[in-house]
Amino acid sequence: MITLTKEEKQSLIDLANEARRRAYVPYSNYPVGAALRTKTGRLFTGVNVENAAYPTTICAERVAVFKAVSEGEREFEVIAVVTDNGGSPCGSCRQVLAEFGLDTIVLIADGQGKLIKQTTVQELLPEAFTPESLSRKV
Ligand code: THU
Repeated sequence: MITLTKEEKQSLIDLANEARRRAYVPYSNYPVGAALRTKTGRLFTGVNVENAAYPTTICAERVAVFKAVSEGEREFEVIAVVTDNGGSPCGSCRQVLAEFGLDTIVLIADGQGKLIKQTTVQELLPEAFTPESLSRKV
């Protein structure tokens, strides 16, 4: 497991918070920003993009992961997630993150850029259903 310096954490949080300004949230008015760093050091941001057909909305974290995967990246080190109130990633985002590794570090921060919690996908989604689950014998 990697260790992140305070500066590394803050710069990812700041990147997510800047991205958050581009969130498209006419319905919830709850902008979310994410910044994902891959094991190769590339950075991908994401924002939530809402839709008049509400369930079609996609979360910031999944946008960041899907951008990365669509650019050929599948191994992640850390994702920062910023909301006004330091909210925690939703269940669907936890599941999508779990697909690509339970060790991914998750930094949860508020709109002031203050780190509220550092955790991992493993902690956020215990007993996850992962790609291995499809082939593993009970
Ligand atoms: N949202 C995210 O972007 N990420 C989460 O993990 C939680 C929820 C978005 C979806 C919707 O646009 C708004 O926040 C309110 O649910």
